[in-house]
Amino acid sequence: MRKRIIVTGGAGFIGSNLCDYLLKNGHEVVCVDNFDDYYDPKIKRNNIEHALTHPSYTLIEEDIKKTEKILEQIHGNFDAIIHLAAKAGVRYSLKHPVGYEESNVVGTKKIIELAVKKNIKQFVFASSSSIYGNSKAPFKEDNIDLKPISPYAQTKLLSEKTGKEYAESGKIRFISLRFFSVYGPRLRPDLVMNKIAASIYQNKELNVFGDGKASRDYTYVDDIIQGIIKSLDYTKSNYEIFNLGNGNPIKLIDIIEMFESASSKKVNAVFTDSIQGESSITWADNSKAIKLLNFEPETEIKNGIQNFINWYLEK
Ligand SMILES: NC(=O)c1ccc[n+]([C@@H]2O[C@H](COP(=O)([O-])OP(=O)(O)OC[C@H]3O[C@@H](n4cnc5c(N)ncnc54)[C@H](O)[C@@H]3O)[C@@H](O)[C@H]2O)c1
Repeated sequence: MRKRIIVTGGAGFIGSNLCDYLLKNGHEVVCVDNFDDYYDPKIKRNNIEHALTHPSYTLIEEDIKKTEKILEQIHGNFDAIIHLAAKAGVRYSLKHPVGYEESNVVGTKKIIELAVKKNIKQFVFASSSSIYGNSKAPFKEDNIDLKPISPYAQTKLLSEKTGKEYAESGKIRFISLRFFSVYGPRLRPDLVMNKIAASIYQNKELNVFGDGKASRDYTYVDDIIQGIIKSLDYTKSNYEIFNLGNGNPIKLIDIIEMFESASSKKVNAVFTDSIQGESSITWADNSKAIKLLNFEPETEIKNGIQNFINWYLEK
């Protein structure tokens, strides 16, 4: 069935891939994005260049907090809001915490209010594995002793709490998806695979913080999109949290090796001190999403890395 969906942050890495998927599958998309300068806005303009010509795509270039202005530009009924807009970056938030709460917590509340005003019941929120901080891995959604260790992660936890309050009042259905280290074409420039590729193809140094043994549960963007799409049809309860990961943590040094063998080139790695505020491991227990959403991450890391390299070289 054709759906009308608002995607906030739709010009970013995950958002633009998601919008393309929705359009390809016959849905109508309203993308709300302010092209913030966390990284070069030209990259985001490129991400959506072809979508702009699609008849079922509308771009609203606006800050999510300016909901009055957004409301003036959206008409008719919508089936869902997928709220991805956020100031991203665990590492950046440690050094520059100002602005995170405003964008991520206040912004989320404003977009929830917009959903209530427009009577849009289904609200899907992009949360993050960083919420678990130094909790014991593998991470499970029912862990209530969460230890977020960065300002960014704290804003995601606060947003989930806000979502829960609204969901309990029955005004919306709030589905929080905790994404785990997403990678793939259009990856954000601050994320590690882009830096590894820059070391291989542009002879840049790759700073490895710590001994390179920190592990991440790298999850291919198409698998994340599959989880988001499945959550659109979840109606069994009004509030739910789902991990969306690959379920298979991999050490950074092993990722580097995979890039080296895929490219037959060497990474110029420079080992420096580890960073406080970053976890040593992220690892999703996906069993809840598998059971309730029928989520099934399919992309093997080696195939995902090859797709990423192909995109990197093309760009
Ligand atoms: N990439 C990952 O590995 C990952 C992991 C966990 C969670 N997430 C979450 O997924 C979402 C998408 O992440 P991404 O990697 O695609 O990041 P991204 O930075 O590429 O995309 C976010 C988009 O939101 C927009 N935005 C930011 N503040 C805004 C505001 N106030 N008003 C309107 N638009 C605004 C930005 O311009 C950007 O296009 C974010 O909420 C992020 O926190 C990402």
